[in-house]
Amino acid sequence: MASYKLLLLPGDGIGPEVAAGMQVVLEALKETGLATFETETDLVGGCALDAHGSPLADATLQRAKDADAILLGAVGGPKWAGVAYENRPEAGLLRLRKELDLFANLRPAICYPALAEASALKRELVEGLDIMIVRELTGGVYFGEPKEITVLEDGSKRAVDTQVYTTAEIERIAHVAFDLAGKRSGRVASAEKHNVMKSGVLWKEVVTKVHAEHYADLQLEHILADNCAMQLVRRPKQFDVLVTDNLFGDVLSDIAAMLTGSLGMLPSASLGAVDAGGLRRALYEPVHGSAPDIAGQDKANPIAMIGSLAMCLRYSFGLGDAADALDGAITDALSGGARTADIAGEGTNPIGTRAMAAAVADALRARVG
Ligand code: IPM
Ligand code: MG
Repeated sequence: MASYKLLLLPGDGIGPEVAAGMQVVLEALKETGLATFETETDLVGGCALDAHGSPLADATLQRAKDADAILLGAVGGPKWAGVAYENRPEAGLLRLRKELDLFANLRPAICYPALAEASALKRELVEGLDIMIVRELTGGVYFGEPKEITVLEDGSKRAVDTQVYTTAEIERIAHVAFDLAGKRSGRVASAEKHNVMKSGVLWKEVVTKVHAEHYADLQLEHILADNCAMQLVRRPKQFDVLVTDNLFGDVLSDIAAMLTGSLGMLPSASLGAVDAGGLRRALYEPVHGSAPDIAGQDKANPIAMIGSLAMCLRYSFGLGDAADALDGAITDALSGGARTADIAGEGTNPIGTRAMAAAVADALRARVG
């Protein structure tokens, strides 16, 4: 059995707890013989700032470059609210994404049958929901220059962020979306705001061209991002693959997360381009943040983190069967009644992070053993 080199970056807040839950599942994967890993652990975010004076030390970045895949928990928290902008915990995560060129962020929003009641929407609207959000992750307003606050003559200030996209950046994310759609229902919706943004005009033009030249057999729909937000809560099952820019993707994926019952359920994969040897850089992380309000209390839902591990098996190592078994184990644990507080309905006794992770690990052993 091949052994893979994983870099674990638990980070801040609930990050270390959900990462510990994920490690319990890693052990179960080893035991069942599905896959085996060498792991290294390092710091990112606020904890890295406290230890090294930087939210991402150069040595950590190098380890990230050397790893076969990275699993990250969460960054940020009120403790670091006052630090300089360039040292905020989020800067560590953004630097990782940018330096590793992880331009394709896959955020699958799946509503597990057992959780349809936990969604803020009616059961019939979300039951069976299976959307893949493809978010561009290394461009747009997150990284565009200038990005600054200047002081004007009268002493007031002027802030500017820059939304910028090039043809090549749009092309490569469009290819990722269409390639995924080809393996799913064949439908892509592309969200932008060409009605008010030049970057939206170019986005639409390039996606249209990539579609016509390479994927004419698939269906493409263009949708304005605000309408897309509305449609996601009105009739979410109309979407299959949804491709969009960095900022719209950030917002739309949080909406999609709530459709599935809880932000604690959404995993994600951030992928680079495939190199000549068929390998690609990749970082996997839950979509939820560091949730400082519940950190350290064994309350957080580890499923988004465990689901991120399943994505790692699938997208980094081609271990589709192991990934299916792990996704199945999550489904089994949920149908067996395991619920953390965020997904426990009325009259259900919630269990903690550790117990939820153990339930998934047990379900995995039961499936494979
Ligand atoms: C996400 C997060 C990050 C983002 C933050 C933590 C910088 O919200 O991954 O969605 O805005 O991209
Ligand atoms: Mg976000």
